Amino acid sequence: MHRVTADDLTDEVVSRIQATPDPRLREVMSALVRHLHAFAEEVRLTDQEWLAGIRFLTATGHITDDVRQEFILLSDTLGLSSLVDLINHSDVESLATEPTILGPFYVPASPHRDFGASMVEYDDGGEPAVLHGTVRDENGQAIPGATLDVWQNAATGFYAVQQPDVQSPTNLRGVYRTDERGRYEIRTVRPVPYPIPADGPVGKLLADTGRHPWRAAHIHAKVAAEGFEPLTTHLFDRDSDYLDSDTVFGVKGTLIRDFVPGADGVLRCESDFVLRKAR
Ligand code: BEZ
Ligand code: FE
Repeated sequence: MHRVTADDLTDEVVSRIQATPDPRLREVMSALVRHLHAFAEEVRLTDQEWLAGIRFLTATGHITDDVRQEFILLSDTLGLSSLVDLINHSDVESLATEPTILGPFYVPASPHRDFGASMVEYDDGGEPAVLHGTVRDENGQAIPGATLDVWQNAATGFYAVQQPDVQSPTNLRGVYRTDERGRYEIRTVRPVPYPIPADGPVGKLLADTGRHPWRAAHIHAKVAAEGFEPLTTHLFDRDSDYLDSDTVFGVKGTLIRDFVPGADGVLRCESDFVLRKAR
């Protein structure tokens, strides 16, 4: 009997998976095993390195709870979240607004706010700004009654969900609705760049690999309307640092917007959203 080689081992593991009843699970697990084995072979993974990897994943699990999702941060900083988003939602032919990652700070059931209402409930000195525009379809038709579920950070760099003892839970969050001409208007503050939570294993990995933890300044939006595909995206501030090195690879050129002073001196940011008909 010949000695087992690395290739024999990979084939043996993959062959045992072939009894998986669910064909998609079989396909995904077979590919995962093949790529994991190929990775270990390519870098000639040592015993100590394998153990360090196990310890890293264990620490990632230990720090994860209902509000701290370190595995999503890991996926985000490795570009995997953005890759999955591109695979599933990118269509170069489409005129629709490009999507980008959801991130870990989305909280459902934000308060409904009127056209032009402020979502600032706690003043920490942020620069006032008005976000406005229209929601339309790919033919330019306005979409009345579309909802925009919007969330962003405060001038301190934190989202309300990260500072439960400082900000009110619904600060800088709100659900807005477009009017009969498809227009929306939101009073808010200018978003600021912020570091993703960097006090855990993912932050250490960023530091060990010579990377910073910063995100470019942005406002998140989930835009939805009856008969259209829901859109999850961000708007980025053109004047922000880190547009070229966003730590989670979320920036897309088409999502960068200008914040310009209006006649009253208050910053205005115009941003239209284009939705795609549901297929
Ligand atoms: C965010 O934009 O809220 C975010 C995205 C990925 C990781 C951390 C934060
Ligand atoms: Fe964010």
